[in-house]
Amino acid sequence: MSAAGRKKGHITVPHIRERKGADPIVSLTAYSAPMASLLDPHIDLFIVGDSVGMVFYGMDSTLGVTLEMMIGHGAAVVRGSEKACVVVDMPFGSYQESESQAFRNAAKVMQETGCDAVKLEGGMEMADTIAFLTARGIPVMGHVGLMPQSVNTLGGYRARGRGKAEATKIISDARTIEDAGVFSIVVEGVVEPLARKVTNAVAVPTIGIGASAECDGQVLVTEDMVGLFNDFTPSFVKRYGELGSLVAKAAEAYGKDVRARRFPAAEHCFKVKNNNS
Ligand code: KIV
Repeated sequence: MSAAGRKKGHITVPHIRERKGADPIVSLTAYSAPMASLLDPHIDLFIVGDSVGMVFYGMDSTLGVTLEMMIGHGAAVVRGSEKACVVVDMPFGSYQESESQAFRNAAKVMQETGCDAVKLEGGMEMADTIAFLTARGIPVMGHVGLMPQSVNTLGGYRARGRGKAEATKIISDARTIEDAGVFSIVVEGVVEPLARKVTNAVAVPTIGIGASAECDGQVLVTEDMVGLFNDFTPSFVKRYGELGSLVAKAAEAYGKDVRARRFPAAEHCFKVKNNNS
């Protein structure tokens, strides 16, 4: 399968890279073409996150997400967006084994979705892989702090970097992956002073999620932001809409109409053209 590719004039990886310390970068997740086309005029950057596993497929972590799922959703978001830069997450198990495994799978994601870049989780342990990919034409966004793919080794989804040793490690992770060539870094689930230190420590933009306003940009999971995912809402999420209750109300009204035979009404039916039809 080959990808449609990005439209001319869209926001590119170098544009995002140049936004360090400038206007905040506005980012949201998307997994589908219709959602991407609604969001695209209002944002700079899509992250097609492996959060799709929990938000879209009802999994209880991101670990079960496959490369094929990410390619399907990544290609849909590329088709639905004109302006924003599109970054697709590399799922768990698709890049950690070796540099060549990471290159093969990242190249497949780039070729089959037409996205601008890939994102992978990890600090210094992923530096050689990041250097390998970026030297071979694959732009990489990093991801430090709370890394959901490491939920089993981190022991849960708690905020990271409250202790000195953990904070120092996160800053040095960010510096190391910057040296390896990332163009931007997602900083997830860290306290404000650490978000500030990480942002000041690197020359590439930081994109925060649950990491305070000290980052160069912000990302939220769209379904959290618009009230379409109600299994749990992290405390750092601000709800800008309540679409979940609108959908439920619409379904309730539809059900009542169907049961009362009010739907479909005459205007929803095909018209009879002549006596025989
Ligand atoms: O999977 C995801 O949604 C993410 C967010 C931090 C963007 O990685």
